[in-house]
Amino acid sequence: MKRKLYYQSLSALFFGVALFLGTSCEGPVGPAGIDANESCKQCHNPNVVSLIEKQYEFSKHSYGEAAFDEAGNTGCTPCHTTEGFQYVCKNNVSASFIANPDTTKPGTFVNGYATVASSALGEFKCNTCHMNLHTAYDTTDFFPLTTTAPVAMTMWGGTKTINLTQDNSLSNLCVKCHQPRPLTSLKNGNFIDYADLVANPTDLVFTDSTKANKSKNIISPSYRTHVHYGGVGAIYAGKGGVEFTGIAYENSEHTTVASCQECHMADVSNRAGGHTFMVRGTTGALGSSTTWNFKGCNVSGCHDKAPLSATSSKFVKTRVDVKTLLESLASKLKSNGTEFLHKNSDATTNAWAGITKNNYDGYLDIYDPSTNPNGAWGNPNPSSFSKDAKDANNGLPQFPSITKVQLGALINFQLCLREYSLGIHNTKYSTALLTNSIQALTDAKF
Ligand code: HEC
Ligand code: HEC
Ligand code: HEC
Ligand code: HEC
Ligand code: HEC
Repeated sequence: MKRKLYYQSLSALFFGVALFLGTSCEGPVGPAGIDANESCKQCHNPNVVSLIEKQYEFSKHSYGEAAFDEAGNTGCTPCHTTEGFQYVCKNNVSASFIANPDTTKPGTFVNGYATVASSALGEFKCNTCHMNLHTAYDTTDFFPLTTTAPVAMTMWGGTKTINLTQDNSLSNLCVKCHQPRPLTSLKNGNFIDYADLVANPTDLVFTDSTKANKSKNIISPSYRTHVHYGGVGAIYAGKGGVEFTGIAYENSEHTTVASCQECHMADVSNRAGGHTFMVRGTTGALGSSTTWNFKGCNVSGCHDKAPLSATSSKFVKTRVDVKTLLESLASKLKSNGTEFLHKNSDATTNAWAGITKNNYDGYLDIYDPSTNPNGAWGNPNPSSFSKDAKDANNGLPQFPSITKVQLGALINFQLCLREYSLGIHNTKYSTALLTNSIQALTDAKF
């Protein structure tokens, strides 16, 4: 798809330069050897930086708080701050698990995918993705992007790689951050082996902590037993789920034909497209808004022959079908006959409110004094809680044992809910994961 290069339509006006350089009577001064008049205004004009800045205000990369909240944490900031992201890209930091540097824990591992403490700040700005800004001081500074290299998946310690080569591999930029994180084993800190969850469905991963065999626990269930939020990259590439047997794992055409940019950075319409990175012009969770931007879908060679809209059956039916599967899977994730998934209808705190009827967010309904004070089940590992919180926790029913098939199905539920598009990203893969998880739970008598 051919997009307009805004920076080629240079404004003849003096505009941006005066704004950035103040009102010196000697005229604009740039870095030594640069003619500010010629250089700066290639970008600092109403059609380039100023225009894109306006779009960018509507991107959660800009207004969201994730960069600020996680700043300073070396394990979080590879995906949550500019410096952290640039550090892991420049140094090609490996996603492998490494021997735990804590020698009191021999034979255990930690995820090595981290930045360093001196490079762990920085809100998301233009230079997060355009790392060369203000280098040559001309429009070539926008490219290359910070990375378009194949992405070693951190959820699997880099043993699998996502490489979306269509559209000059631009999608790899997004997937570098929009990928899940590992769920690690209590036993050795390594990532949990999904093939084992499939092969041994009735084994326990967690047993009621009062029972004798609790040393066999692989996880300690909590509100945030999850694979983080970046489900999109994995689902899109068809490489992130716990693949129970059943219908075949295939990918829809988007995986090899479309790029993230084609749908999320399509020509602007209302509040979506361009550098808003949105397909639908809403903030927060799904509402009744119909301000979809189908411009990216309906370009030549894609859906131009039968253009899509918010009411086309192809679009509506896909989403209804996936939603139905999500809801039936949720209804099978039960402990002692009661669903254990957390529900939250508040769109300001639940990014996935409205995706399912019950407003699941992918968390477990386990007590946590700060994140889930009304949790229905006690947390089996309250050691870090205050005295009051421990008392509250002890008053709740114990979270019952769970098996490998339940954990696998939970991971698939989280991935398919949090990819957010109800199957548009990769209908075939989402459908197979959900259908086969439901069957696997049925086979295990859930
Ligand atoms: C490749 C295009 C490009 C060129 C050429 C360019 N800039 Fe920028 N400049 C940017 C972008 C993009 C930003 C970030 C804007 C934002 O964060 O909203 C920026 C930000 C700035 C800022 C704001 C401070 C900051 O770091 O956020 C100043 C001041 C500035 N530029 C001055 C200049 C001067 C002076 C020149 C010419 C010598 C120049 N720029 C040339 C793209 C360019
Ligand atoms: C440096 C890491 C990083 C890169 C690169 C990145 N993102 Fe993001 N993105 C994030 C984070 C973190 C958030 C959540 C921000 C928040 O909640 O404050 C986010 C949020 C979003 C959202 C809004 C999600 C919501 O919950 O409403 C969209 C859409 C999005 N990104 C799309 C993209 C696309 C498309 C690309 C590639 C062009 C991309 N992102 C590249 C880290 C990244
Ligand atoms: C591999 C990349 C990656 C790493 C590492 C990472 N995150 Fe994230 N995180 C993301 C992405 C991508 C999103 C946004 C997903 C979206 O909105 O679609 C996100 C979203 C979040 C959110 C917002 C969730 C919400 O409800 O909107 C929080 C909070 C968060 N991350 C915390 C953390 C913390 C704490 C760490 C470190 C322990 C961490 N992240 C490490 C990629 C990452
Ligand atoms: C999350 C990553 C990301 C961020 C942040 C980002 N860009 Fe981009 N930008 C891209 C990608 C990807 C492309 C290539 C789009 C394409 O080829 O379709 C691009 C393209 C551009 C272009 C080329 C013209 C065009 O629209 O294709 C300009 C100019 C530009 N960006 C300016 C900016 C400015 C200014 C900011 C900050 C206000 C910014 N970008 C922030 C990812 C980003
Ligand atoms: C075929 C079009 C298409 C492609 C390609 C695509 N997406 Fe999406 N994406 C969507 C749709 C549709 C939604 C749902 C938007 C909504 O409900 O508001 C969505 C939702 C999202 C969201 C959730 C947040 C939000 O608020 O919009 C993120 C994050 C996201 N996509 C990232 C990506 C990434 C990263 C890629 C590339 C790996 C990608 N998408 C490729 C169509 C696409």
